[in-house]
Amino acid sequence: MSEQWWRNAAIYQVYPRSFADGNGDGIGDLAGVRAKLTYLAELGVDAIWFNPWYPSPMADGGYDVADYRGVEPVFGTLEEAEQLIADASDLGLRTIVDIVPNHVSDQHPWFRAALAAAPGSPERDLFHFREGRGEDGELPPNDWKSEFGGCPWTRLPDGQWYLHLFAAAQPDLNWAHPAVREEHLEILRFWFDRGAAGVRIDSAGLLTKDPDLADVEPGRPHPYVDRDDLHEIYRSWRAVADSYSPPRVLIGEIWVPDAERFARYLRPDEMHTAFNFDFLARPWDAAALRESIDTTLAAHAPVGAPATWVLANHDITRTVTRYGREDTRFQFATKSFGTPTDLDLGRRRARAAALLSMALPGALYLYQGEELGLPEVEDLPLDTLQDPMHFRSGGTDPGRDGCRVPLPWSGTHPPYGFTREGKDPWLPQPLDWAPLTVEAQNGDPASMLALYREGIRTRRELRGEFGWLPDAPEGVLAFRRGDVRCLVNLSASPLPLDGEILLASAPLTDGRLPTDTAVWLR
Ligand code: GLC
Ligand code: CA
Repeated sequence: MSEQWWRNAAIYQVYPRSFADGNGDGIGDLAGVRAKLTYLAELGVDAIWFNPWYPSPMADGGYDVADYRGVEPVFGTLEEAEQLIADASDLGLRTIVDIVPNHVSDQHPWFRAALAAAPGSPERDLFHFREGRGEDGELPPNDWKSEFGGCPWTRLPDGQWYLHLFAAAQPDLNWAHPAVREEHLEILRFWFDRGAAGVRIDSAGLLTKDPDLADVEPGRPHPYVDRDDLHEIYRSWRAVADSYSPPRVLIGEIWVPDAERFARYLRPDEMHTAFNFDFLARPWDAAALRESIDTTLAAHAPVGAPATWVLANHDITRTVTRYGREDTRFQFATKSFGTPTDLDLGRRRARAAALLSMALPGALYLYQGEELGLPEVEDLPLDTLQDPMHFRSGGTDPGRDGCRVPLPWSGTHPPYGFTREGKDPWLPQPLDWAPLTVEAQNGDPASMLALYREGIRTRRELRGEFGWLPDAPEGVLAFRRGDVRCLVNLSASPLPLDGEILLASAPLTDGRLPTDTAVWLR
């Protein structure tokens, strides 16, 4: 593929802790990934994005980075990561690493030095340390809310408070400080020098803060979300990415609802692509999905950036579970225990959604386990939960562990080949996952795995221009990519079809496309 490979790539997301365990300690690792690279090559993806593999106390699943230039010993070594990048490349798979610029771990040397130093010291300038409000500084410095719930300020014994938009173990860096900016340019070079094809940029819309850390006020620019001064940072990152041959790629995690504000990050001298969370959050409803597709394409066109199509990731409720619920949207705010779901319905829709997202123009992101149709694990024993989102909600939010359960590879009982027989994986796997293993799905043409393999392969032929087909009945999404048509039936009635079928998400009935089914036709 050309240097612009990222424009229509299929990118597979590996959550290293839960992909495959190479050394039998119950935790996934780089050796496990290396052993399964042919699985990913056969799936047909172009690149692998790895969630953070750096040394970390794992207060937030590795998004609390203690050393940006190393590998967490539980996962392996730096040499192994280099070998992994090389092995993957031999199979035609590019590697994307996850960069976490908004915050560091509280065990990062910079933060340890800041804690050891006095208020007002240069060490503390790398973070946001402040005096509190109230008579004795006993109130936090402002009214902001943590992304994980609760107060984003923690007070130290010396009376000062420090800012952490996420967990207390993730202190926010001060992006107004030149050393913070310089350090990240070096981190980019570190991984680009080791062959990374690009970076996924964590919480990319949150780095810069209002200089006064002012309260959130309606009608005023937000003090820390999507500030205008972020763009100069990403321009400097792009210059580094472009200085490599082939140029490296910047992929943003940007939760900004306004499509035009979102697209500003994708101007030609900023990031290459960013995750389309608008599409991911939409309900299983033809009008809502169509609107999202239109808004997405309209916002991306003027900046010349490709759209991305994402159904799930390590933060989001698994697709088959979400689509089987009464409310099929995704929203962090409404996550709760005990939401009923119909998994058969959800699976049927997830299959149709897979073909929809694979047929749309742009890049596709696929989170590990989606190709197996794994459901969210909603009955994890409470004492196994690890996610700070759960704990900081006071226990009302189930958290994100349910989409991070280790993959089932083979066999009929846990650990399903994820780790050595008899060893408990770091999160328990359900007892009924035997039909979902790679081994069980491998030879089955009706499996989710077969659909993804076939879809990713056939998708390469869908490079023609996108256009909605006129006269689609209500509840049907109908568009063409060149001479291939994609129809998705979200209405209650079966849809008459004509043409040669390339791929369907479920069998047709009497030549008609049933409800919650997608088809590619020529
Ligand atoms: C991003 C990650 C999420 C993490 C958070 C803080 O949203 O996807 O997993 O908890 O940033 O780093
Ligand atoms: Ca291991």
